[in-house]
This record gives sequence, structure tokens and C-alpha cells, in this order.
Amino acid sequence: MKLQEQPILIRNMSIHSRFVLPPMATSKSEADGQVSEAIKNYYDEKTKSGQLGLVIIEHSYIDPKGKASPNQMSICNEKDIEPLKALSKLIQNNGSKVVMQINHAGSATTQEITGYDVIGPSATPNPRRGNVPTAMRLEDIQHVKEAFVKAAVRVKTAGFDGVEIHSAHGYLLNQFYSPLSNKREDEYGGDLMGRIKLHLEIIKEIRAAVGDEFPILLRLGASDYLPEGATIEDAVIACKAFEAAGVDVIDISGGFCGYMVPGRDFAGYFSDASEAVKNRVSIPVILTGGIVRKGEAEALLEAGKADMIGVGRAILNNSNWFEQE
Ligand SMILES: Cc1cc2nc3c(=O)[nH]c(=O)nc-3n(C[C@H](O)[C@H](O)[C@H](O)COP(=O)(O)O)c2cc1C
Repeated sequence: MKLQEQPILIRNMSIHSRFVLPPMATSKSEADGQVSEAIKNYYDEKTKSGQLGLVIIEHSYIDPKGKASPNQMSICNEKDIEPLKALSKLIQNNGSKVVMQINHAGSATTQEITGYDVIGPSATPNPRRGNVPTAMRLEDIQHVKEAFVKAAVRVKTAGFDGVEIHSAHGYLLNQFYSPLSNKREDEYGGDLMGRIKLHLEIIKEIRAAVGDEFPILLRLGASDYLPEGATIEDAVIACKAFEAAGVDVIDISGGFCGYMVPGRDFAGYFSDASEAVKNRVSIPVILTGGIVRKGEAEALLEAGKADMIGVGRAILNNSNWFEQE
């Protein structure tokens, strides 16, 4: 059996293949963020091959202030739970485990989208967008922490197999992690351990709230691939701390560079980061980015670059992707 078809165990969750559908925003939710028929049809079509071991549902906002875009999925209300149950069930019935990604946009949004003042770790320009958020007070940090925990509990109640914390692509937790956006002088800034203090508190509080059996994944924008930005060395130290705090899977992507790195167009363009992290943690690591052929996934697994492989745009463009030779 090829490595990519071999099962993997995460806590009590047995995943039958190493192929992952990474989170990809569909912008198909209802205006209030609830699951629509279009979303259910989309995920049904993408997962009915039964070949995906794990499906990570697109980022959903944990708080109205953290909404990133119109028609984004919501996980900030109790009323979101019931419609989500149908979504988790349909993907499980197609043979995959399903995890939902939870997110707060921080400074990567606008007042037009949220209806609120835009917040971030520090009142410094967002490195990608240039806008200057209002620096979060300690009570804002506390509120965000509670919102992450409540959202994770809703994900569990909605029947998902796990939850993924989003700390990549320049959103709020990435803004805390990266020295480009975190200029705080209190305990939530400064050195790396200060910049991941909020992550560690969220992880521990989610673990306490969801219990020992429920997998927690964390998507990390490991490196910004930018001068003065977060580095792969930071990611290795951070991921060891995330593992110790209760994370079960590290999902590697980019930071303020987004989900691609300019000038890198090879399969697995974040494999320098995923390999460095995999060598230092004992939990599985997912690598996504630029993988378009099954053989490329196999080669990256064989080379020890990661334990699971995400295939995003290739499956987005071709729901029959697994039928290739
Ligand atoms: C349309 C689109 C929406 C995306 N939405 C998300 C998202 O909600 N959360 C996330 O972590 N990454 C998101 N991504 C990044 C993908 O998960 C993935 O990392 C990226 O597409 C690179 O992998 P690929 O080369 O296999 O497509 C999105 C990417 C695309 C193209």
C-alpha cells in the first residue's frame, strides 16, 4: 500500500488516507453566515470520491468583529450549530473525517464588513493591507479567547471530528505570532513566547472545554518569508509549545506571504517549514501548497517532509482529481 493510502491515528480519530482537503473559503454561506444548500452541495461534490482522509472546512468567524469577508461561514452563534450538523454528517457519510477551521480576522478586515472598529495586536500598519487597527486592550484579548473556546465547543456539538485554530495568512493569531504586526510591550508581545502566549492560552482553554478525546489542529503561518518577519526557527519552537499545550496536528502554511511564496512554484513550497517542524515534534504535520499530482504527494511523504498532504486548488478545479493515473 502506498504511503499516502496508509491510515493515521490522531487521538481516537482514525484517518484512512493521508490526503487532506485544506480549508478553502467558498463565500457560499447565507448572509448571516449560516450553512447554505450551495455549501452542502459543494462539499458533497468534493468529498464523494471517499478518498480524502480528512476534510478541513473553510475558516468560520468566531466573533462578529473577526469576520473576514461577506458570505463567510459563522461559528459565533448557538443558532449556527444545527445547520452545521447536516454538513458534518454528509461529509462523514462520504467516508472522510471532518474538522472545522475557526478564525478571527483581526486587522485583516474592514469596518464595512464587520460593522465594528478593526482591532489587532498593535496600532501598526497591517503588513499586507496597510490599514492601522486599534490596539487590543487586555479585555479585548480576554473576549477573543472566550470566543475561540465557545466556537470550538460549538464545532464539537455540531458533530465535527475536530477543530482547527487558524493562525496563518495574516489573520489575528498570525498577527500576534509575527513580529511584523505584534509590537506589544506587555506579556502578549516581545519575544516569541510572548507572541504565542495568546495561542497557548486558547489551546489550553479549548482542551479543557472539549475534553481529552477531541482533536485540536493548528494551522500555522510558519514563516512570513519577509525581512524581519516570523521564521522557520520561530515555527519549530512555537510548534513544540503548541504540542505541549494540547495540539494534536500542526498544519503548515504561510504567514504574511499568504498561502503562496513569491518565486516558489514547486510542489510543496512550504516543505522547508513542514520538515523542520516534523523533525522536532511527535504529532502529525500537514503540508499544503502547490501539489497537483498524486505522485508529488507520495514523493513528499516518502522524503519525510510531512505526514499528510493537503491538495487545495487542484481539487477545487477538478472534483474527479483522484481519478488521475
Ligand atoms: C479560494 C481559496 C480560499 C481559501 N480559503 C482558506 C481558508 O479559509 N483557510 C485557510 O487556512 N486557507 C485557505 N486557503 C488556502 C488553502 O487552504 C491552501 O493552503 C492553498 O490553496 C495552497 O494549496 P494548493 O496549492 O493545494 O491550492 C484558500 C485558498 C483558496 C485558493
